[in-house]
Amino acid sequence: MNDPELAVVEFVLTATVYTEDKSLDTDDVPPAYRTVFYSDGRIERPLTPTVDTAREATGIDRPWDVISGLMFTDKDDFDGSLTFTDRGMAEEWFIDRVDADRLQENPVLTKHFEDELEEVDYELAAEQNRPSRADRAVIDNLLTEYFDEDEEEEMLDLVDVRAPEEIEMTLDDIVLTPEQEGEIHKIVKAIEHRDYLASIGLREIGKLLFVGPPGTGKTSVARALARKLGLPFVEVKLSMITSQYLGETAKNVEKTFEVAKRLSPCILFIDEFDFVAKTRASDEHAAIKRAVNTLLKNIDEVSLINDEVLLIGATNHPDQLDAAAWRRFDEIVNFPKPDRQMRSDILQVVTHEMDILDFDPEAVAEITEGLTGSDLRLVLREAVLDALTEERTTLTQQDLVDAVESFEERDTLKNMDMIEGDHDALVAGGGDIDGGHDHSHDH
Ligand SMILES: Nc1ncnc2c1ncn2[C@@H]1O[C@H](COP(=O)(O)OP(=O)(O)O)[C@@H](O)[C@H]1O
Ligand SMILES: [Mg+2]
Repeated sequence: MNDPELAVVEFVLTATVYTEDKSLDTDDVPPAYRTVFYSDGRIERPLTPTVDTAREATGIDRPWDVISGLMFTDKDDFDGSLTFTDRGMAEEWFIDRVDADRLQENPVLTKHFEDELEEVDYELAAEQNRPSRADRAVIDNLLTEYFDEDEEEEMLDLVDVRAPEEIEMTLDDIVLTPEQEGEIHKIVKAIEHRDYLASIGLREIGKLLFVGPPGTGKTSVARALARKLGLPFVEVKLSMITSQYLGETAKNVEKTFEVAKRLSPCILFIDEFDFVAKTRASDEHAAIKRAVNTLLKNIDEVSLINDEVLLIGATNHPDQLDAAAWRRFDEIVNFPKPDRQMRSDILQVVTHEMDILDFDPEAVAEITEGLTGSDLRLVLREAVLDALTEERTTLTQQDLVDAVESFEERDTLKNMDMIEGDHDALVAGGGDIDGGHDHSHDH
């Protein structure tokens, strides 16, 4: 990977081979190369490698300087395009240097060299290459095709679509309970084998409800799952339904599901699911009720097996959900506040890149009962910033202990404020579930 010469030659060669071999399609091009060739969500032949596209695709600052010393390369001074003057020599040079593992990540070249190199397998390479429909450019194009400008603006408040490449959180960054791990493993397998499940008529799968207090990782796990599976992530914030033009709301909900089906396979994440119950119970505007009913109807109709949409709902307030809401999900995944062992594990994960003298995560876990993963992150942030005020980038165990204390103080203040200021929050918060730490660190 650290051979810039090889990287630039690979890029030029890939573009050249792809242009010639019409049996290759967009999905065969490695994702980093596709990004530079998209226009209107499509890649058209010929692919012309230039200094600029090579720079963007390989991350190498001066790609021409890197390959200009090779006998078989040329640059057009007018348009900056990069070419091979002697193709045979270029291919020989490349094959001599590239290793099989690396080639295996490039389906275009794997196909091209499959007969010459026994170690590489095109079928496998193509299967493991991320499909282009999960690329940002393709998603954007689909959305503009689907919504006119006004509509798109309205939808933006309600729905957020992320390409898997844009998700930073990985499942390795999140400490899971054994139950959560089991559920995630199950759903990954179900998605892999969805054709089989369809063939045996098993359809009651693919609707998960994540239940637990704020800051326990519900949103993070849903996103990380999208990244792991290479699927677009469509996120709906139900509370935004009320801020929409009321008359349009039901239509927008309908459209959200259409978008998800168009982007499929994808994950549709419906956050704040308790909102459904709240509106059904109270006497809200008729348009909102209509929207919520549309939502429930669409949830009933969408399916992992038929539509390739994995539905994940999340709620901080399970006590507010009625039977009608519960029965729409076929798995409930519990997100409890972390116990001592989990807190210690989370502290280890979060501090992975930090220098901490005498670090004792067990001891910090001991004094952070009741704190969520999100709280622990805030504690660490506090400790880091405090140390920075003293020009220190190495923390000490004592810094962490101090940060825990000041977190607890602020927390107490905040709760007192709630008691005096907002009685609703107390009632709605469901005291025993959220304990003393009802923060909304969602983002
Ligand atoms: N179990 C956990 N392991 C690691 N990080 C966690 C965990 N739980 C929460 N966090 C962190 O806390 C922050 C908030 O989590 P989030 O997923 O938004 O919680 P929720 O959606 O349940 O409110 C994120 O940065 C997340 O990484
Ligand atoms: Mg969340």
